[in-house]
Amino acid sequence: MPVVARTRLGLAAARRGLAAPVVLVPTMGALHEGHRALIRRARQIASPNGSVVVSVFVNPLQFGAGEDLDRYPRTLKDDILIVAEEGGDLLFAPGAPQMYPRPQLITVDPGPVGRILEGESRPGHFAGVLTVVAKLLQLVRPDVAVFGEKDAQQLALVRRMAADLDLGVEIAGVPIVRDPDGLAISSRNRFLSPAERRTALLLPAALRAGQEAAPDGPAAVRKAAGEVLATRADPPLELDYLALVDPDTFGEAGEDHAGPARLLVAARVGTTRLIDNIPLSLECHAADD
Ligand code: PAF
Repeated sequence: MPVVARTRLGLAAARRGLAAPVVLVPTMGALHEGHRALIRRARQIASPNGSVVVSVFVNPLQFGAGEDLDRYPRTLKDDILIVAEEGGDLLFAPGAPQMYPRPQLITVDPGPVGRILEGESRPGHFAGVLTVVAKLLQLVRPDVAVFGEKDAQQLALVRRMAADLDLGVEIAGVPIVRDPDGLAISSRNRFLSPAERRTALLLPAALRAGQEAAPDGPAAVRKAAGEVLATRADPPLELDYLALVDPDTFGEAGEDHAGPARLLVAARVGTTRLIDNIPLSLECHAADD
């Protein structure tokens, strides 16, 4: 079983006994197959001699007014078992007063990339994410921190924060884990009714269609994915955004963009907001027609 620390003092005491390299997996709990993949990757990076720390904290700072902070699942007992099964050494599960003993007056500004796409739909979200990630990195002092590619914009921003603020930590990404029907695994999937889940499958279907169109260039990718997302469904899919971006800058991939790109989608099905994405390799079609 992992050591469970609920306080900063408990974490500091347990941290002193951890062998390097220390690898951190920050999570908001309700651990599922996607998190298991992150912890397994952390275990690989740490090697048998190093240490894996998993943090579980539902961070109020990254939820906007009217978002699902209150209904976000909290399943600590199950989380401890999962961390144990995947070979984690330490589970840090602080309450909000431990993470935010005072009102958080100083926060991390996520810069321009933090204000587009997810950042535009969820104002303040990335300032909240980067602030809690910076605090966790300071408290745990890992050599490496592991994040999922499901939150691709988050991963890009955390990488940039680590580099721009010289945090001295390596950031590792782990590919999305999908259920057999193709839906990207998420703690929020449990809120989908069977009919909503059928509608939600339009997201991965659109991404696959976009990926297949990649040899025909960016416009073809957007068209193919957009057509799938426009499919009539009951209940309907309410599209938030579909974007084809440069994977590092998150700027829109223009018609002259060649090489790696990421196709991103966010949509609401019923009361549940879902995001998904897929990597693809684009060929330049600027000079066509
Ligand atoms: O991806 C998440 O679960 C959260 O955004 C994170 C990185 C744990 C910060 O609260």
